[in-house]
Amino acid sequence: MVVHSGIGNRMTLKFGNFQIREFQQNDVEALIKYANNYAVSKFMRDAFPYPYTRENAVQWIDYIKKNDLTLSLAIANEMELIGGIGAIPYDDVHRYSAEVGFWLGEPFWNRGIISKALKTFCNYLFTNHNFNRLTANVFEGNEASRRVLEKTGFVLEGTQRKSVFKENKFVDHYIYGLLKEDFKI
Ligand SMILES: CC(C)(COP(=O)(O)OP(=O)(O)OC[C@H]1O[C@@H](n2cnc3c(N)ncnc32)[C@H](O)[C@@H]1OP(=O)(O)O)[C@@H](O)C(=O)NCCC(=O)NCCS
Repeated sequence: MVVHSGIGNRMTLKFGNFQIREFQQNDVEALIKYANNYAVSKFMRDAFPYPYTRENAVQWIDYIKKNDLTLSLAIANEMELIGGIGAIPYDDVHRYSAEVGFWLGEPFWNRGIISKALKTFCNYLFTNHNFNRLTANVFEGNEASRRVLEKTGFVLEGTQRKSVFKENKFVDHYIYGLLKEDFKI
């Protein structure tokens, strides 16, 4: 795994034949292709809608650029974007924590890609940023995501019962945490 510092604050994290890198304007087509999928969006917040339109893709990339969200990143293979991974830092007394999130295009599922991406990303966050802990929130029923988090060393810390309202029903919300001191690459 290599961290490249490029021009300005550009950076790329490599893992195998894949990379975690900044979103680019020409990611729009691939973003629509892989994000516009109910199987992906059903476990994401409503900000990641279904259908996922061209307008959604363009707005997302603009939003990241305008707000300089340097920790909201694309996952790409050698050809194109295939998913996303990001961290949103908390503030105030929680300022040493961030919430991580991720998704992957369905054709690439169950090949260990997100498990490797998440390890790479957590290593980057703990090494290059001042985070003491990372949090991940998972909706009830998302067994693949829970498995990925547990393989990365995240621990289930609690359940917010019926706190998510998605598809006209309330479901539980699992809170996972990973401390810097417990993280092993
Ligand atoms: C969750 C997601 C990112 C996983 O990506 P991925 O690259 O397929 O993950 P990996 O291949 O690294 O690991 C998946 C693990 O879950 C397991 N798994 C998959 N489906 C499962 C299921 N229904 N029940 C239990 N385990 C399951 C796999 O066997 C694998 O575990 P293993 O390595 O021990 O065999 C992908 O499914 C996705 O994008 N889902 C929709 C969006 C989403 O849920 N994002 C996360 C929000 S918290």
